[in-house]
Amino acid sequence: MSKKKKILVLTGGGDAPGLNAVIRAVVKHAIGTYGWEVIGSQVAFNGILEDPMRIMPLDLKTVSGLLVRGGTILGTINQGGPFTFPVKNEKGVLVEIDRSDELLARLRRLGIDAVINIGGDGSQRISQKLFEKGLNIVGVPKTIDNDLDCTEMTFGFQTAVETATDAIDKLHATAESHDRVMVLELMGRDAGWIAMASGIAGGADVVLIPEIPFDLDKVADHIRARDARGHHFAIVVVAEGAKPKDGDAFVKEKAGVGRNNRVLGGVGDYVTRELAKKLGGMETRCTVLGHLQRGGVPAPMDRLLATRFGAAAVDLVAQEKFGYMVAYQQDNIVPVKIADAIQRYRTIAPDHNLVKTARALGISLGD
Ligand code: F6P
Repeated sequence: MSKKKKILVLTGGGDAPGLNAVIRAVVKHAIGTYGWEVIGSQVAFNGILEDPMRIMPLDLKTVSGLLVRGGTILGTINQGGPFTFPVKNEKGVLVEIDRSDELLARLRRLGIDAVINIGGDGSQRISQKLFEKGLNIVGVPKTIDNDLDCTEMTFGFQTAVETATDAIDKLHATAESHDRVMVLELMGRDAGWIAMASGIAGGADVVLIPEIPFDLDKVADHIRARDARGHHFAIVVVAEGAKPKDGDAFVKEKAGVGRNNRVLGGVGDYVTRELAKKLGGMETRCTVLGHLQRGGVPAPMDRLLATRFGAAAVDLVAQEKFGYMVAYQQDNIVPVKIADAIQRYRTIAPDHNLVKTARALGISLGD
């Protein structure tokens, strides 16, 4: 009989609906099926690196009721990590140091046999580097942005799309009643998945995504043509990473280094302002949906995906298939190399069916 394993589970990066559902599935399968011990590290790997350590035993009682809870009971962080751990130097300046060796030593001391790291591209980059240093690690792909490669879907995305679609539905009321152009800025970083999916599902008139730089003259023409046909309002959905055809994405603030530390925002206001000038008499208003897209009760399909991912991740540990991430492909959960999944970001290809569908419906993509 194989030795009883002790596994560590953690959540990293921005929170996403379904994180708790993965934790629940991991615990239920690891304890219920295999009889292992499960420990949670709080606030990603920080829980292991802090003194005293912030770790918690996870048992069937702890995870009871977690399926429907947003956020993560383990806490999370989308900056730093064991390779770029922030500390103050002797001058009081914040610098980043590599604490990965210390992390591995601490995990050995705890007797951890394997780690399940639930997170997006930033977290899986950390997983890969730790795997290369010898850690037994398995990844679970999370992000509302849906931009992780090698998986057709990440959990969290479908709830975000539901929230965004609900916002579009609600904005229709004011748009129609007041003859206004309502601009809605959505999350998604450098990918337009949330904007495109909710834009189509919500019946938006214009959808602007990072993958297709926009021309506001074209957008204004589209809205004028609608007006001339008797539709005196419009819904314009803008992904936070969308950019004008001869400009850059709108960055609100820069915190630290790397793509993850660029806080996007402001394109909604820009589009609203510029469209108001171009459209003359039409009133325009902007709504930024922000972190509402990350919260709430996970949609059933996210709960399902998160649960399938969590159970499959435990099976990968049982098979000692480390350095792999569970992925959703052709309605199955399959292992893919983490190294492959972090090679590139999954953005919307110009010939993707969503783009074709949007164009077929007469939605302006601003090009
Ligand atoms: O990756 C998820 C996400 O919500 C992005 O859509 C967004 O750009 C970013 O995180 C916002 O991060 P923060 O919560 O740190 O502002």
